Amino acid sequence: MKRITKILNHPQYIEYLNRNAEAEKERVFCRHDLRHALEVARVAYIMVLENKLMIKKDIIYAAALLHDIGRWKEYASGVDHTVISAELAISILVDSGFDSEESEQILKAIQDHRKSGKQSTFLSSILYKSDKISRLCIECLVRNQCKRFSDGRQAELYY
Ligand SMILES: [Fe+2]
Ligand SMILES: [Fe+2]
Repeated sequence: MKRITKILNHPQYIEYLNRNAEAEKERVFCRHDLRHALEVARVAYIMVLENKLMIKKDIIYAAALLHDIGRWKEYASGVDHTVISAELAISILVDSGFDSEESEQILKAIQDHRKSGKQSTFLSSILYKSDKISRLCIECLVRNQCKRFSDGRQAELYY
């Protein structure tokens, strides 16, 4: 997992997480911090193991750690953070030693992580599901205001 350590210590990665924290300091809903990224990575990795998918652990972690790094820019520009996060992730992936084929797979998953039912690869599908199910909505105090629960459905956990 040396390449994941490189991402975590990459100056741009740290800067983007700090920008997310600054942009979300008044936010009452879920934040897009390192804790969220790691929870997504861990749930995604369990899903890959349980489903016996052949996706390398560091590919899963890279996609999860980078999937929301452009959230701060969405607040300022209105551009969807799936697009921004993928753009910002390119140089971090190169600097961390991912080759072009691996980067393409990771970037595709980042771009697809909000498109319900439109995941074209296993990694995209796993990232989409783990992003949602890893949130601890059960303990959320503003759940009744969250659009995810506007249809009256119950919060779930991943077991
Ligand atoms: Fe996201
Ligand atoms: Fe997310």
